[in-house]
Amino acid sequence: MRGIVLAGGAGSRLDPITRVASKQLQPVYDKPMIYYPLATLLEAGIREILLISTPADLPRFESLLADGSQWGIQISYARQDQPRGIAEALVIAEDFAAGEPVTLILGDNVFYGDLELERIVAGFETGATIFGYPVDDPRRYGVVTLDDDGRPVSIEEKPENPRSRLAVPGLYVYDGRAAEIARNLTPSARGELEITDVNREYMRRGELTVVTLGRGIAWLDSGTHDSLLQAANFIATVEHRQGLKIACLEEIAYLKGYVDRAHFEQLIAGMPNSSYRQYLERVLELES
Ligand code: TTP
Repeated sequence: MRGIVLAGGAGSRLDPITRVASKQLQPVYDKPMIYYPLATLLEAGIREILLISTPADLPRFESLLADGSQWGIQISYARQDQPRGIAEALVIAEDFAAGEPVTLILGDNVFYGDLELERIVAGFETGATIFGYPVDDPRRYGVVTLDDDGRPVSIEEKPENPRSRLAVPGLYVYDGRAAEIARNLTPSARGELEITDVNREYMRRGELTVVTLGRGIAWLDSGTHDSLLQAANFIATVEHRQGLKIACLEEIAYLKGYVDRAHFEQLIAGMPNSSYRQYLERVLELES
């Protein structure tokens, strides 16, 4: 399975922070935000990744993430000229996906906990799989309602009166038909190709699966100044308590066997002295 990370958008709610670098390049505690969705993909065994961003930000992502070989993965890049909607990522990525299933994740989605994405991806055949995450105030999100058997009966975008508390996070698994569905959508009133409309089309065909995420999972928002700070505090709290890092791409690459020990040692040797490097040195010691 290939992965798409969509990391464009305006980030206007984070102004003035986002005037010179996009939201997804901002720190969530000790690493750039983009590391978190990348970690979600790497942990699921997805190693061929297309990163989509704005023409202005693409060079910054390229200098941060390069071609991915340092982590034993492949990262390629594509541009979205205007924020014409999340579903446009599927159209931009059409050649990359080459008719095969893809996992799409938004560059500002931070997950903590076992989503079982590796199992979902490994067992994925056709249709679409999305997630439902209970939130206190669902009105800001796409909201999915399930029947008694767990089958989706409605998906509404930012509803005034939500029928359920299940928000749809920015993580979606689609079969090879998603690009065509996205291409044929009519832009919404706000001029965007809505990912909710793609999901609705799969639902209409009876091919949409919704996995409900339980209490043990954190899905953190990072789109406003307060939610960005809260996400950073959450990550810092868990990391300090456990002495383990979340979304440390070098560690994941090593533990997953994407890079061997010699490569991992070299990666560390090339890093400036920081608490991040010291952490990786400890990983090396513990795993020897
Ligand atoms: P949003 O948070 O809805 O939008 P935004 O990031 O532009 O922020 P703001 O509302 O403050 O202006 O987008 C969710 C994610 O999807 C975010 O990571 C940006 C990304 N995105 C794109 O890359 N392209 C798009 O066309 C849209 C709509 C979103």
